[in-house]
Amino acid sequence: MDLCKPIENKFKEVMEGFFSKQETSSKTRPGGRMYSCHGCGLYKTCKSPFMKPYGNFKKKILNLGEAPGEIEDNTGKPWQGKAGRLLQRTYKELGIDLFEDCVNINTVSCRPTDKEGRNRTPSNLEVENCRKRVLRTIEEYKPRVIILLGNPALFSLIGHRWKRDLGGISKWRGWTIPDQDFMSWVCPTFHPSYVERVLEIDDESVEYIIWKRDLKTAFERANVSIRKYVEPEVEIIEDLSILGRITAHQVAFDYETTGLKPHMKGHRIVCASVADSENHAYSFMMPKSKKEKQPFIDLLRNPNIRKIAQNMKYEDTWTNVRLGTEVVNWGWDTMLATHIMDNRPGITSLKFQVFVQFGISDYESEVAPYLSAGDNKDGNSLNNIFNLLTKPKGAYYLLKYCGLDSIYELRLANLQNSDILPF
Ligand code: URA
Repeated sequence: MDLCKPIENKFKEVMEGFFSKQETSSKTRPGGRMYSCHGCGLYKTCKSPFMKPYGNFKKKILNLGEAPGEIEDNTGKPWQGKAGRLLQRTYKELGIDLFEDCVNINTVSCRPTDKEGRNRTPSNLEVENCRKRVLRTIEEYKPRVIILLGNPALFSLIGHRWKRDLGGISKWRGWTIPDQDFMSWVCPTFHPSYVERVLEIDDESVEYIIWKRDLKTAFERANVSIRKYVEPEVEIIEDLSILGRITAHQVAFDYETTGLKPHMKGHRIVCASVADSENHAYSFMMPKSKKEKQPFIDLLRNPNIRKIAQNMKYEDTWTNVRLGTEVVNWGWDTMLATHIMDNRPGITSLKFQVFVQFGISDYESEVAPYLSAGDNKDGNSLNNIFNLLTKPKGAYYLLKYCGLDSIYELRLANLQNSDILPF
């Protein structure tokens, strides 16, 4: 992203957790060709091209499937084959009528076939060509719940907004995302044809049990309104003595550093942030002199204030090595808690949790490229953070980002505490 653009507007988008419409609905693919039906061409070979949304939508649920198959193409209606029958039956068992209570669309609205004329999975490019229609349908219907059935559905609705490795449906299934871009609950789960295939081998398959539970949880969300997240305030400070006035019983804190290893020569803590509530954080460049740092050190040593971090080992080691002090009263590690609550791979990053728990898909893309050392470096290397600081408003971006990290850590810790503590 261009760091030189006027900051206020750009940052507003970041603070609200919104991707700009321009970014979510990119009109062109690499090479400059427009995403369009002509770029896809499936409409030329099927019997029911441009299949319309189908269903009476009484409970405001939108199902995003993969693609029409042969039977759907012949009849002009979604979910008419084997997978569709399983979906209809399972929904019914959960009190939902697939065609009365929901509206049904697919990632591509025309049937994809292979050379022998058999059904096939749509390619990513076909899904991208059809994404605009999917987004338009969502905008038109304003569903309370969007169920993403399988990998292509995941790619269609999330692939363009998630700048990191998307991974597969196993990582995303089961989360009910209060998506701030659509103000709908976005609920990914398996595609019924996968469940159908597993059931043929084992009629008590665990996948079926998990799938049904995912669907049940998603349907329950239809009655829960989505909390619109309040724009947090990141207060950039120079004089750290204000930290001495914090009265909160807990804070989350976060560092941006020059790399991963505090012991390596040349490494240092560039800036830090302290969130004292779910909506407010102080953010500051780390002063050079001991005297100026002291209010922060006093806060870290204060036994009456509980400390939260995402991967506390990281903040703890940097504090020890670079600030020469210990952290007193560690209370919560959001990364560890995430792993304890759900041990699937690829889900513990703060960015992933901020998306699945709070529906904010991106607040980092301006600074993320500068915080990694690049492909050819090792764990001891310096990252590009100083490069960021040479950009106009680079320090401002960094401090805002750092502040948001600790705010989201605090929000996540509170959420996890409320989930875990009853046990
Ligand atoms: N499979 C899908 O993904 N969608 C349909 O409409 C039918 C089968």
